[in-house]
Amino acid sequence: MIEVSHLTKRYGTVTAVRDLTFTVEPGVVTGFLGPNGAGKTTTMRMLTGLVSPTSGTATIDGRPYGQLRRPSRTVGAVFDASASHPGHTARDHLRVYAAMGGYPDSRVTELLDLLDLTEAADRRTRGFSTGMRQRLNLATALLGYPRVLLLDEPANGLDPEGMLWLRGYLRRLADEGRTILISSHVLSEVQQLVDDVVVIRRGELLAAGPLSRLAGPPAVLVHSPDADRLTTVLRGSRADGDPPEVEAVGGGRLRVRGLDAPGIADLAAAHRLRVHELVTEHPSLEHLFLNLTNDEHLTNDEHLTNDKAVTTCGT
Ligand SMILES: Nc1ncnc2c1ncn2[C@@H]1O[C@H](COP(=O)(O)OP(=O)(O)OP(=O)(O)O)[C@@H](O)[C@H]1O
Ligand SMILES: [Mg+2]
Repeated sequence: MIEVSHLTKRYGTVTAVRDLTFTVEPGVVTGFLGPNGAGKTTTMRMLTGLVSPTSGTATIDGRPYGQLRRPSRTVGAVFDASASHPGHTARDHLRVYAAMGGYPDSRVTELLDLLDLTEAADRRTRGFSTGMRQRLNLATALLGYPRVLLLDEPANGLDPEGMLWLRGYLRRLADEGRTILISSHVLSEVQQLVDDVVVIRRGELLAAGPLSRLAGPPAVLVHSPDADRLTTVLRGSRADGDPPEVEAVGGGRLRVRGLDAPGIADLAAAHRLRVHELVTEHPSLEHLFLNLTNDEHLTNDEHLTNDKAVTTCGT
């Protein structure tokens, strides 16, 4: 388990992290989210002892990194997607780290295979693509079978196939009971990847907890030529006590909260009302973030992106 308690880091007049408190549980993938400059990397560096806190504590399994007995067995961390020596091959790179941690060469072979790098193993890393570098870094972090993984922007630069692979891979590691914290400033990138989130901005905590609880239940967009009558039926129905919320969004479309798509379809059928389309809208992390910041605009230095566009930029 990762515990961050009243953690603060100041660089001169800049407060990178301010009185930050949160925990990261094992067995789930936790997203560490916030715009550029929010303090994600600084916090992760404090967790791995690369930066010392101004005040507060950052511990892993109850101890600061420097006091762990076998740090590489406990924590695997990835910070920079180009950290390998360009003249080394992937195999050389892993062998150097394996030797430092006291792991056998067979572990190197195993990881190259696990991360689908066997074919590229004897090529120099200067020619590696971003996705290959990300895999190599992940392999390096995994050398000591760590219980805790800290990955700084692991999805950066991955193509859709790479994202799918990363998602499956992190899920497997979490299912094995590991503690996984991944940072990102690209919300849509991690939406499908994480169970829990810790959201920070300007070094301060905005929210923490399961994404499903923070983002709220999904809404259903209904397209019906009988939208008015369907609205009356929905409002008069009683799913779990409270009737669903119905909002007309124009063009014969309704946005319904509090009843799922099958429930709406069954109700419409029972009243012989036509439904042409039902779309479940899962709440986006982007909306969660905007709600948390009260729709305040981000400044020019803070970029928080979704897949379609840069979310907001102040003027
Ligand atoms: N070594 C340093 N010296 C001075 N200021 C620093 C240093 N490291 C970080 N900062 C400042 O601390 C703040 C937080 O930076 P940090 O890199 O932790 O943000 P981040 O959330 O990782 O951002 P990004 O999404 O861009 O990676 C920024 O204002 C940054 O300029
Ligand atoms: Mg960063």
